[in-house]
Amino acid sequence: MATTEPTIPTTEPLSTGATVHVGSETAREWWRDAVIYQVYPRSFADGNGDGIGDIPGITSRLDHLQTLGVDAVWLSPFYRSPQKDAGYDVADYRDVDPLFGTLADFDAMLAGAHARGMRVIVDLVPNHTSDQHVWFQQALASAPGSPERARYIFRDGRGPAGEEPPNNWHSIFGGPAWTRLEPREDDGPLGPQWYLHLFDSTQPDLDWDHPEVRTEFTDVLRFWLDKGVDGFRVDVAHGLVKADGLPDWHGHVSMVDGGTSDDAEDDPGAPEDGSTGAGNQGPMFDQDGVHEIYRTWHDVLAEYDGDRCLVAEAWVEPLSRLARYVRPDEMHQAFNFSFLTTAWDAAALRRVVAASYQANDEVGAPTTWVLSNHDVVRHVTRLGLPDVGVRPNGVFATDPQPDEELGLRRGRAATLLMLGLPGSAYLYQGEELGLPEHTTMPNEVRQDPAHFRTHGSEAGRDGCRVPLPWHADAPGFGFGPAGEPWLPQPASYARYAADVQEGVEGSTFELYRAALATRRAEGIGHGGMAWLEAWEDSADVVAFRNGDVVVMANLGTAPVALPVGAEVLLTSGPVTDELPADTTVWLRA
Ligand code: NOJ
Ligand code: CA
Repeated sequence: MATTEPTIPTTEPLSTGATVHVGSETAREWWRDAVIYQVYPRSFADGNGDGIGDIPGITSRLDHLQTLGVDAVWLSPFYRSPQKDAGYDVADYRDVDPLFGTLADFDAMLAGAHARGMRVIVDLVPNHTSDQHVWFQQALASAPGSPERARYIFRDGRGPAGEEPPNNWHSIFGGPAWTRLEPREDDGPLGPQWYLHLFDSTQPDLDWDHPEVRTEFTDVLRFWLDKGVDGFRVDVAHGLVKADGLPDWHGHVSMVDGGTSDDAEDDPGAPEDGSTGAGNQGPMFDQDGVHEIYRTWHDVLAEYDGDRCLVAEAWVEPLSRLARYVRPDEMHQAFNFSFLTTAWDAAALRRVVAASYQANDEVGAPTTWVLSNHDVVRHVTRLGLPDVGVRPNGVFATDPQPDEELGLRRGRAATLLMLGLPGSAYLYQGEELGLPEHTTMPNEVRQDPAHFRTHGSEAGRDGCRVPLPWHADAPGFGFGPAGEPWLPQPASYARYAADVQEGVEGSTFELYRAALATRRAEGIGHGGMAWLEAWEDSADVVAFRNGDVVVMANLGTAPVALPVGAEVLLTSGPVTDELPADTTVWLRA
């Protein structure tokens, strides 16, 4: 519960308390303080009018990203894929899916980004392939126990006739994590084998004990490094190695909370280590054996010039455990999902921020920050939900609907708080427009396998993947030259279109642009950070100093006084000599 603060702090309003992070003035790699913008290719911009975003579409909109002022772009998968999980089911790691264009289109996009001073990170999906990948097709065509099957995790079933799955694991998307093959003449006495898939049944898990799997992925890294990419975002980085013997697991896994154990869900405490329940647990995640893989990859990247980087998508808690992925000889960054999943609560945010620096500083890695991506409800919508503590996997039209205005106000405040922190920040396409989730999408148009595998009990991730609005007055809001966008856009997207925001004072786009410019000019990304003493224990205010910039966010319900004489650099909403509720300000003081 928010409480009313004294408007004037009891100590000097600007004196600093505990130092949380010490900045660095020395030479550093670009990724340490980069702002990296996630492009979800099928929903960014459609170049050819088939209603699906593509690589020429991205190239045509690079100026928007340059105007915004991001340092790098991360592209979700565009590889050859049957698109059963929107491209996270890869059939050929070395080719562009015709849906998105050609390798030549990719080269042109990369050159265009580099010419504008922006780096490009691509997605690598090593935990599983598509069931259409040549390796899996060979495995299906080969006998149990054959070398072709050894690249995946095939097992005999349990029960007298092998009719029970090999263990009790569930897919993160819902339903069992095992699928049984069709019978073959050469099946053993236990009948057809089963294969493991932590996600959809069209996404069989690879066996990372197999040397060919390891060699294949270092070759794939080289393929894209040779093309000139600046790094890789590594999908399910905590899942590649499974515990020996694939033991049963009685915890639960889901998209909603990253898969906490039942016990953790009941824990009413607020751990000092910043954990929020965002960590996947169980014998399929965060096994020590994954680190050896990333050491090998680190060495491959180090052979190339230009500080190429690896970023881990690892739903691992506590943050000290996550930091093991970014030790000096492993990856370079890891997404901070503990931050993303923190409630709109001053004490909880201070806790996660402090724990993030503590864990990463210990291994010399930059802390990263992220509020939205293609797997979670957009943060402006999350923060406007009736209960901001819950983290649904999508919102149904029949659910209580978010307060759009409150969500946007808080969302802008959350962004300004995040961008004031030293480290590297990730933005998800559309958040620079304040774009909300599509929360009234008809179920008939949903495409996320998580919706179907939970038998419709979870809405799924389509609501955050809706094609972007570029022009308020154009059909499909200018997403492409023609054609219906692959997911319907809500009518409200007209107000969020890029063309009604670019150059318009007070728009969310201009707020992001100004924040990125100020961040760069003030060296915020590589600065140090200390709490403002007066607010160190506040229930409502998060306030810290980063160099000459003071960031104050009011998460409470009552306005608080701003320090007298401070110059206002940037605000997420209107301020007077007071900072209203759900507002963040950057001061020079
Ligand atoms: C994480 C990706 O971000 C998500 O979109 C995907 O469904 C799973 N990994 C499986 O690849
Ligand atoms: Ca297209």
